[in-house]
Amino acid sequence: MDSVRLNQIGAACLFAALAVGASWGVARTAVPEPVPAKPGVAIPHPAAPAGASIDDLVARASVEKGHAIADRQCAMCHSLAPQGPSIIGPALFGVVGTHVGDIPGYEFSDALKTHKDETWNNTTLSTWLKSPADYAPGTKMSFPGIESETERADLIAYLNSLKPEPR
Ligand code: HEC
Repeated sequence: MDSVRLNQIGAACLFAALAVGASWGVARTAVPEPVPAKPGVAIPHPAAPAGASIDDLVARASVEKGHAIADRQCAMCHSLAPQGPSIIGPALFGVVGTHVGDIPGYEFSDALKTHKDETWNNTTLSTWLKSPADYAPGTKMSFPGIESETERADLIAYLNSLKPEPR
């Protein structure tokens, strides 16, 4: 056998291997992995697709759950009432849509004021509430953050609802 023939056989084997690999890949993507049933584990928002954006998550979030989270985790430092006072942190009614660190009568840290060109929206709130110290190193909000993106979405949906009734 000459070397050209050997090369042809080699190429044929390689091609076969690639073809098998490719069809395996197609089969793997075409057949969804079975979802393991986890009895007893509550899946809060089954409708949210994996990789959903924070805007999607907020759109599907629960204002009631967010309210409960705020009462538990924010209300000791923040008033959530209309025209509420500053406590340890600034009052949060109507905070969505304002500039960062821009609530009159509250002395913000320089750490937060460096973000004053940004506006509080779903994205900035989610980043801040995930880890205040990462968003604004040196902030005086001593709060570790909320790891669960779903809980942050619920909370943000609640904050979004804190605005005067349209008339
Ligand atoms: C231990 C007290 C404390 C807790 C708990 C706390 N905060 Fe704060 N928060 C602060 C302080 C203090 C600031 C001002 C931070 C600064 O100037 O660096 C602040 C600032 C903020 C701001 C920025 C406001 C603005 O106008 O820029 C938002 C939004 C906020 N907090 C939301 C929350 C939410 C939502 C929770 C509950 C998950 C929460 N905070 C829990 C003390 C707290």
